[in-house]
Amino acid sequence: MLFEELAVEPSVSDAASSTFIDNMRLPVHRWIRFSAGFSAAWSQDVIENAAPRGTARVFDPFAGSGTTLIAAEDAGAPSFGIEAQPFIFRLARAKLARRSDPAAFRELAKAVLAGAPHRKADITHYPKLIRACYTDDVLAELDRLRSAVKDADDGSDAARLLWLAFVAILRRCSHAGTAPWQYVLPKKSKKSAAHPLAAIEEQVRLMLTDMAVSPGDDAPSATLLQADARDCEGVPDGFATLVITSPPYPNNYDYADATRLEMCLLREISGWGDLQSTVRRHLVRSCTQHVPERAVNLHAVLSDNLLAPIRPEITAVCERLAEVRLSKGGKKTYHLMVACYFHDLARVWQSLRRVCDHPSEVCFVVGDSAPYGVYVPVIDWLGRLAVAAGFRSFRFDRTRDRNTKWKNRKHRVPLCEGRLWVEG
Ligand SMILES: C[S@@+](CC[C@H](N)C(=O)[O-])C[C@H]1O[C@@H](n2cnc3c(N)ncnc32)[C@H](O)[C@@H]1O
Repeated sequence: MLFEELAVEPSVSDAASSTFIDNMRLPVHRWIRFSAGFSAAWSQDVIENAAPRGTARVFDPFAGSGTTLIAAEDAGAPSFGIEAQPFIFRLARAKLARRSDPAAFRELAKAVLAGAPHRKADITHYPKLIRACYTDDVLAELDRLRSAVKDADDGSDAARLLWLAFVAILRRCSHAGTAPWQYVLPKKSKKSAAHPLAAIEEQVRLMLTDMAVSPGDDAPSATLLQADARDCEGVPDGFATLVITSPPYPNNYDYADATRLEMCLLREISGWGDLQSTVRRHLVRSCTQHVPERAVNLHAVLSDNLLAPIRPEITAVCERLAEVRLSKGGKKTYHLMVACYFHDLARVWQSLRRVCDHPSEVCFVVGDSAPYGVYVPVIDWLGRLAVAAGFRSFRFDRTRDRNTKWKNRKHRVPLCEGRLWVEG
């Protein structure tokens, strides 16, 4: 079948399809804001219209907050998803528990929220970041809730839902500027912060409302794995006819640091220093924090066969970045990040070839990038790596311009975001 016959025309507006914003009006997706996510309505449209109609088997190797998997369940399609960031994995897993027994969740929530205020709080062990984000009173109340939620965790769906209800209120209860899913801004303050007990009660109510409109038992359930997209372990060979995903972009966004507030509050890490060993090491290398100077042998990475299809161009870009950084104060290791990012993504394409059926179509929502003003043709390189891994062809649908981030960094390289469609 020709690629043109497989491609579908989504009804969601192009500009909105690559952002999470509309999801905040949708049941379940609205449980927690995940600013790196994309549109659930667009994703569901693609699944429902995939040819031949109604037969898609869906895979999302970078599942994030679970947008594609929930859309697949809503569209009645079997699906697999992989998420490597442990905290984000738990979020998606909790959202997928939406089809479990609401009465069990209600009863557990009732018992835990009734017992929490009688617990003893201990706020002395929280790191500076957390102390800066909460008043002592709010932190004490959060600590009581934290320990009550933790002690109630028996691995059940109800406990997973309750955990999500708790983590969903954390930014709302902080008086500090906590841009959603971004870095915490303890020096900025919000006009008003929510009260923890009232906030979690409201969150539980919202979740119960949404659980009532979830698909019934006859619809397929998504399978979510905490694994690595670079090898897609656990996903059967030839499973997928349709991949809908959005990989990390090589734009220095740190998916480990993005959840530092929550992980510190949960006492899973004690600060930034723990992120590499607990979180970042599982992820695609898309930020410079991941590739310190001496940790990477650039020559070895660029010489690897996986990068052969783009070797002359990527070598030139990495050499340019290695030079430019010397004139910059931060001396960021973008030259290493770019090499490692494409090496990681080349592995992802090889794994996708294994788990994709023949034919299949793959849609990557992705953007290009220009660290230190050096243009990185992300889309073209990803497409070529896909073809080298055994897919037949690729094309790109641009959905929006995206150059604001780098504008602040004193250059005007025009960037864009869109959908890279790969077929074969
Ligand atoms: C752009 S986000 C995906 C957002 C998703 N489409 C949504 O709507 O929620 C990319 C995700 O890839 C995850 N990730 C990074 N490296 C990974 C790896 N090696 N394997 C699997 N997931 C990874 C990140 O933790 C992040 O959640």
